[in-house]
Amino acid sequence: MRDQRVVIVGGSSGMGLRVARSVVASGGQVVIGGRDPERLAQAAATLGERAQARRIDSSDKASIAAFFEGIGRFDHLFTPGSSQSSGRIDEIDDDTAESPFRSKFWGQYYAVKHALPHLAKTGSIVLMSGAYSQRPLAGSATYVACNSAIEGLARALAVELAPIRVNAISPGTIDTELWQTRLRHKREQAHAHYAAMAALGRVGTVDEAADAVLFLMRNTYTTGSTLFTDGGYTLR
Ligand SMILES: NC(=O)c1ccc[n+]([C@@H]2O[C@H](COP(=O)([O-])OP(=O)(O)OC[C@H]3O[C@@H](n4cnc5c(N)ncnc54)[C@H](OP(=O)(O)O)[C@@H]3O)[C@@H](O)[C@H]2O)c1
Repeated sequence: MRDQRVVIVGGSSGMGLRVARSVVASGGQVVIGGRDPERLAQAAATLGERAQARRIDSSDKASIAAFFEGIGRFDHLFTPGSSQSSGRIDEIDDDTAESPFRSKFWGQYYAVKHALPHLAKTGSIVLMSGAYSQRPLAGSATYVACNSAIEGLARALAVELAPIRVNAISPGTIDTELWQTRLRHKREQAHAHYAAMAALGRVGTVDEAADAVLFLMRNTYTTGSTLFTDGGYTLR
């Protein structure tokens, strides 16, 4: 990734931050985005002088437009930053039901739209999906549907935006900071449940997921693909 400039919406933690670390370590530059300015500043400080931080909320169209305004030319876009909830169709309110599409689907769609004027034609976009798209869990219908839609969006944009390459990463359960917000016993229960369903019998690491994202950025003949970094969850 030497001399490549990479923009990561959701780059202050988890998979986004790990991708940022690899890019900087290999001689590239990053712009990381997120909602919490303190978390962003801390992440940027650990990344060093080849990193910049900008505030963005992927649930808010105006915030997405402002993030990309004057950002300068860059080579790759990765968009894991989203915030959503889910639940059973007969239990959740409309706002909760719509939250995955609002933040994760439309958030990524508008990020691509506002990124385009600045994105190199030789570059790439990696959208964030999730393996429940292919093997749903009960109680997350709109989150599942949103991930399926994102995989479709990657295929459609790969055709529409060529030669810019567009791919999606669809991870299974990855042990990121996202899980630290859950109560410990709930997290352990969810991880054990996932491990029992995945062919490899465990959850994934942040490094394994970040490596898949970097592959999609680097490989110049891969476009329209969804890469399942899921330990074989979708095989069973
Ligand atoms: N971890 C998993 O098991 C897993 C599995 C499948 C798919 N995913 C997908 O991966 C993404 C989360 O990545 P992660 O697991 O690495 O989580 P993470 O460690 O919690 O990192 C999420 C990053 O996104 C930012 N973010 C969250 N909400 C945002 C918003 N509304 N606007 C802009 N930035 C936002 C966070 O910063 P702020 O909070 O400060 O904004 C942070 O930088 C989600 O799209 C999720 O659906 C995760």
